Amino acid sequence: MNGSVLVVASINIDLVVVAERLPAPGETVLGGRFEVHDGGKGANQAVAAARAGAEVTVIGAVGNDEHGARAVATLAAEGIDVEGIRIVDSEPTGVALIVVGPRGENQIAVAPGANATLSLTGVDLARLAAADVVLVSHEVPAAASLAAVRAARRAILNPAPARALPAEVLAAGPILTPNEHELVVAIGNDDTDAALDELAARNAGPVIVTQGAAGALLAHGDLRERHAGYPAPAVVDTTGAGDTFCGVLGAWLAAGADLGAAIDAANAAGSLSVRAAGARAGMPRRDAIYALLRAAD
Ligand code: RIB
Repeated sequence: MNGSVLVVASINIDLVVVAERLPAPGETVLGGRFEVHDGGKGANQAVAAARAGAEVTVIGAVGNDEHGARAVATLAAEGIDVEGIRIVDSEPTGVALIVVGPRGENQIAVAPGANATLSLTGVDLARLAAADVVLVSHEVPAAASLAAVRAARRAILNPAPARALPAEVLAAGPILTPNEHELVVAIGNDDTDAALDELAARNAGPVIVTQGAAGALLAHGDLRERHAGYPAPAVVDTTGAGDTFCGVLGAWLAAGADLGAAIDAANAAGSLSVRAAGARAGMPRRDAIYALLRAAD
């Protein structure tokens, strides 16, 4: 399998405390283990796509610091083209502070740093137009995500973190991959069914609502198609499961799969991704995704 995926990516280093429970507001939870992982939604999606067999390019920004050097080296070690990553002197590399609880659930706060400086040049836009699939999220500036979905032949917009989706983005018709929280925030309606109906009517492209272990719901116009989840191994850390879904969705589509098959592969990959600590350690390679798809047949 191949096909090209270009990710307009946020790139972070994740500073993680694995704790006996997530702290409530104002509370300190003592104990736990400190870990440092590579992260950033876009960079995670790029790694998921590369492991799934796509030829992956990243456009992004890091600081001129130790975290940035580590982040770029880690992506390059996955076989990803990192020439489009800017080294920014004025801002540090993005950092995510993450607490992971006993069931793999998390709390995340992100200082975007260099990610917030990312803007797309004419050369970038030409590269976007040449890629089979472009992936982008809300962790890069809104102007960059809008330019990306407009320039792409086929775009996947992961609307995370949650924010309202402007009409000009929906007019471009990206494949949207919100979870249920991002869905209701995107539309400004707490009723998930009504929010999905409205988003499916307003977006020119398909909407895929990710539902964790329960799978995903595809909505396009009046179509509603449920895609079941796959049995997950023992859940260690759910950080990056949504990114794995998006990266594998992009890799499968870039290789010519139809949307339904790509959603099934992405669901399978997402379920495998939660078996190890950190956003990327559990991300499967293509063979493991096929094995789970075959086992579930
Ligand atoms: O989706 C998980 C990612 O969100 C983490 O890697 C963290 O960096 C934040 O961007």
